[in-house]
Amino acid sequence: MRILVTGGAGFIGSEYVRRRLSSDPSARITVLDKLTYSGVEANLAPVAEHPDHTFVHGDICDPDVVEQVMAGQDAVVHFAAESHVDRSIDGAEPFVRTNVMGTQVLLDAAHRHGVGRFVHVSTDEVYGSIGEGSWTEGWPLSPNSPYSASKAGSDLLALAYHRTHGLDVVVTRCSNNYGPYQFPEKVIPLFITNLLDGRTVPLYGDGRNIRDWLHVSDHCRGIELVLHGGRAGEVYHIGGGTELSNHKLTGLLLDAVGADWDRVERVPDRKGHDLRYSLDDSKIREQLGYTPQVTFTEGLAATVDWYRTHRSWWEPLKKRAELR
Ligand SMILES: NC(=O)c1ccc[n+]([C@@H]2O[C@H](COP(=O)([O-])OP(=O)(O)OC[C@H]3O[C@@H](n4cnc5c(N)ncnc54)[C@H](O)[C@@H]3O)[C@@H](O)[C@H]2O)c1
Repeated sequence: MRILVTGGAGFIGSEYVRRRLSSDPSARITVLDKLTYSGVEANLAPVAEHPDHTFVHGDICDPDVVEQVMAGQDAVVHFAAESHVDRSIDGAEPFVRTNVMGTQVLLDAAHRHGVGRFVHVSTDEVYGSIGEGSWTEGWPLSPNSPYSASKAGSDLLALAYHRTHGLDVVVTRCSNNYGPYQFPEKVIPLFITNLLDGRTVPLYGDGRNIRDWLHVSDHCRGIELVLHGGRAGEVYHIGGGTELSNHKLTGLLLDAVGADWDRVERVPDRKGHDLRYSLDDSKIREQLGYTPQVTFTEGLAATVDWYRTHRSWWEPLKKRAELR
């Protein structure tokens, strides 16, 4: 199967490419990635010489590049996005450009080339916030941040290309990912690396915001199931099954590195901060046999270990992005 993977040098995309190439001899993967601040070519170093891997440095908003890479593909797995909520609050333009317009460029090209399947990787954040219970796939979208609004736009656009043009689109909406190679601006790697450096960690507000945590390898397993078994025009949730408040998560991270609460700095809450995300993922479990395989306890310990032993990966990234 020839697969175009957009954003394959990012956190989740690179996990997908590494695992797919190491487990499936029939996969031929072309990565299209702009290498923005969060795209790291070294994330693909383990497969750089793989004969079935081609890396193309380019922008999904550029119709000429997309036209070239789309030709001959059987499927697209679309990860490329501006992905950090805080950056979208500072400036929404790149989010609308890449997440909405870039997705439109890809969908048009996929339709023109008769691509067999287009997996659009979306997020639980498109639903907004939920006090109790869990969202099912038919829940109305009500995004609150410029990031989630741009993802909701692309998510609906992808589904519209199925209904309007008959393009074989499937959409996945997942919960918060964690694991190795995550850019150290996101809460888990930011906190781990700050703590490893003997610094403080910034906890938003009272820390009562709740997220469901999904190991990146389980997310990629879910995407594979949807790519091969999902029904065209359908949405599938991929959840992790571990809901934690940011306060509780902070406590677990402090324990993991042997630090105390005096290393936690309370900072003003994020604007429009969603209180709780929660996905009902019974559809993918029942229809496609998905079950997360990495427990949060094991996954978090392995992730802390990875950052401890991969300082040469994250130190330059933090310096370059001036992250504290
Ligand atoms: N990380 C999470 O917890 C999470 C949760 C839900 C959904 N998602 C979604 O999963 C996808 C991947 O997220 P991630 O955490 O790996 O993000 P990331 O920021 O680590 O990676 C994004 C990748 O996209 C590339 N990219 C950005 N703009 C591009 C452009 N215009 N053209 C080509 N490439 C471009 C970047 O260079 C980078 O390699 C995103 O669509 C995101 O919305 C992520």
